[in-house]
Amino acid sequence: VTAEKAGFDHFMLKEIHEQPKAYRDTMGARLDESGKKVVLNEVGMTPEQIRAIRQVHIVACGTAYHAGLVGKSVIEKLARIPVETDVASEYRYRAPIITPETLVIVVSQSGETADTLAALREAKRCGARVLAITNVVGSSVAREADDVIVTWAGPEIAVASTKAYTSQLIAFYLLGLYLAQTLGTVDEAYIAEVAAGLQELPEKVESILAQADTIKEIAEQVSTHDNLFFIGRGLDYAVALEGSLKLKEISYIHSEAYAAGELKHGTLALIEEGIPVIALATQDDLFEKTVSNIKEVKARGAHVFGIHAEGDAELAKVVDHTFAIPATLPLLTPALSVVPLQLLAYYASLARGNDVDKPRNLAKSVTVE
Ligand code: AGP
Repeated sequence: VTAEKAGFDHFMLKEIHEQPKAYRDTMGARLDESGKKVVLNEVGMTPEQIRAIRQVHIVACGTAYHAGLVGKSVIEKLARIPVETDVASEYRYRAPIITPETLVIVVSQSGETADTLAALREAKRCGARVLAITNVVGSSVAREADDVIVTWAGPEIAVASTKAYTSQLIAFYLLGLYLAQTLGTVDEAYIAEVAAGLQELPEKVESILAQADTIKEIAEQVSTHDNLFFIGRGLDYAVALEGSLKLKEISYIHSEAYAAGELKHGTLALIEEGIPVIALATQDDLFEKTVSNIKEVKARGAHVFGIHAEGDAELAKVVDHTFAIPATLPLLTPALSVVPLQLLAYYASLARGNDVDKPRNLAKSVTVE
């Protein structure tokens, strides 16, 4: 077992560290030699079929659902197609409007999640084309979908998903670019810029991993609390949801992720002296707004850990601790900002003496509805 963990204490830590490789492998030959164009031979849709897509539904569970929330922003921004993201266990029961012009994207690490598979079948029954993003070649989801983008993260053993999530993000970036190339919705220079940004991500993840000790210290402080909040806006909110889930599932510390602008609509009542708040403020266009939300919690005594993009010195003035992620395009930040949150969950779980890789009550793959 030690060998399988390649010297790491837990599979989760090993898998967190495998992310640079997972990003590279998932991008692989899907960027052409120039590095500026996406080649997705596994997507069998013709340009006409792509042009006929009127709406996209992304359906998944848990962490894969959180990747789908990022996927929604990516596809809407790059391909300008309206996207809805649904939790698979809700999707079928809300009588979704699925037509042959709907592209349904199911996201599943295992490819065996019962609710996701049922959503896929419902989508097909309604005549939609189904594209799967999965980490397991030959899984049920992969077999039943029309198109399959495999995430090459390698086997994920820890119940808490890490490298599968970030590889799903990479798959969404590639797909978004591919749709945009076909539809001509963004200019080639921007496509090239995003593609270049993608290729720089693995190295940037490595630089975050090199600062694991800083996160460990924060995690040890956090682990003494029973409640905390994650806040952010836009893509930062999507990542906040994932950070909160990760922390809950393995540390058993209760946390809530909130869209920062929603705090004053109720949640602010829960902010009291000393409560930790993890604030993500990586999005330039939302930065000032997020800062004013941070001030709202600070004024009520919260202890704020801020995550921001490198080179931005402003956040340090309003929060108690900061952690900088390397600068990248705002669209690509989730692939970096989630990494400190994965480490936070890991070290908080460790500090609490929990079974990191096998949290109570949870299974790696949920094959019952
Ligand atoms: C993530 O840490 C969870 N263990 C869980 O939310 C998981 O992502 C979810 O059950 C979906 O699994 P899948 O990707 O294999 O479909």
